[in-house]
Amino acid sequence: MTDIDVEALIEQAKQARSRAYAPYSHYHVGAAVLTEDGRVFTGCNVENAVYPLGLCAERVAIFKAVSEGYRKFRAIAVVTRNGGSPCGSCRQVMHEFAPEMVVFIADDAGDVRRTTVADLLPDSFGADDLAR
Ligand code: THU
Repeated sequence: MTDIDVEALIEQAKQARSRAYAPYSHYHVGAAVLTEDGRVFTGCNVENAVYPLGLCAERVAIFKAVSEGYRKFRAIAVVTRNGGSPCGSCRQVMHEFAPEMVVFIADDAGDVRRTTVADLLPDSFGADDLAR
């Protein structure tokens, strides 16, 4: 398996962030998820005048990938101005498809934090719990 090109993944997340639709929060988020076979799907947050309908960048990226037939992920990059962490709902969706995925959290200062879904969502609930 090849190394992950972290800078390229972050760059794609940044480009996705430029398409964020966030007229209410003004908090722009971009994400880029890397599939097991090297494809990248990007997402930005998409808000709505009916606030709860908005969707986070990470879930847009993952749902785009899944809807195109890709379910196995190696890494996801998330870019915000201040390096904000993925929300709880996004962590749960990451866990569904890629509990061992690496997560890169980048900010505008160029700082990158490397973590994992397992570290972001300890003691998680998943498909296995439904089977017992
Ligand atoms: N947001 C994301 O896109 N990802 C996260 O993990 C945290 C929050 C978005 C949702 C909303 O559009 C804005 O950031 C403020 O919460």
